[in-house]
Amino acid sequence: MKRNEVGSDIFLKKAFEKKIVVPGFNIPYLPMMEPVIRALHDTETFGLIMVARLEWEKFKSGSMKAIYDEYRKFKNTQFTRLHLDHVPVIDEDNLLTDYERIISEAIDLGYDSVMIDGSRLSLVENIETTRKIVKLAHSAGIPVEAELGAVMGHEAGPLPPYDELFASGKGFTSPQEAKLFIDETQTDWLSVAIGNIHGAISATARTEKKIEARLAIPHLQKIHEMIDIPLVLHGGTGISKDYLMQSFSHGIAKINIATAIRQPYEKLMNDSITAAQNAVYNEMIDIINNQIEIAGSAKKIL
Ligand code: 13P
Repeated sequence: MKRNEVGSDIFLKKAFEKKIVVPGFNIPYLPMMEPVIRALHDTETFGLIMVARLEWEKFKSGSMKAIYDEYRKFKNTQFTRLHLDHVPVIDEDNLLTDYERIISEAIDLGYDSVMIDGSRLSLVENIETTRKIVKLAHSAGIPVEAELGAVMGHEAGPLPPYDELFASGKGFTSPQEAKLFIDETQTDWLSVAIGNIHGAISATARTEKKIEARLAIPHLQKIHEMIDIPLVLHGGTGISKDYLMQSFSHGIAKINIATAIRQPYEKLMNDSITAAQNAVYNEMIDIINNQIEIAGSAKKIL
């Protein structure tokens, strides 16, 4: 089962030590795979290819197997690994999922890392669930990402006003709870809530421009002081470069990006798949070269 190449966990840990970020890109439509991997290759950048449960339920990525097969066509082990993004215990529509079966299937298929999202559970339940998944994944040599705190945005319906949300710190990851969570679960990477929000995915709101989120850097510093593992920033679209760069020097070793490459694809996909793929490639190049400045990272990480 264990792949003989360097595992995702080694990449993330080295990136974390060197304060280099690893971007993860979501693939809600299968033809996005080729331009995403091509851009990573052309810029010699290390990145994760990701799919979340909601992307086969609500978009057109098909299934975990379909993504896995598409990934195998284009993968480049120098620059890419495959990650299973959000598998929520309770989903964005407040429904319970069969998360354990989904994650087991991903591990059996050959995904390189998995995420369990127990963030809509109580702390105790999130710990119990994450611990169970860590045990399952580690027995197959696969690292686990978990989430603590509320990274909102995927739910249907309007968000509370962003400025109020940010000022109140409501849903932010507690540094003390983060320490307890890591000690109790042994999760490998932790997704934190520090003002970041996901791009909307409901059918009515998914084409809207995402609001510009801010990051509570002093709060991130407190979390980073308490726990010594790679931290993950979800909702990577539409955050200013200044915030992003600061976050990478305070523990963020993985940034998840979906909306920024999905929207240009969706704009053109009904006219021409090739044109839509080119739009994804161009956005990828801009993200890598300008927005997060990580071109050439594959050589620097290892
Ligand atoms: P954005 O859609 O805001 O880029 O967020 C992506 C994400 O966090 C996927 O897990």
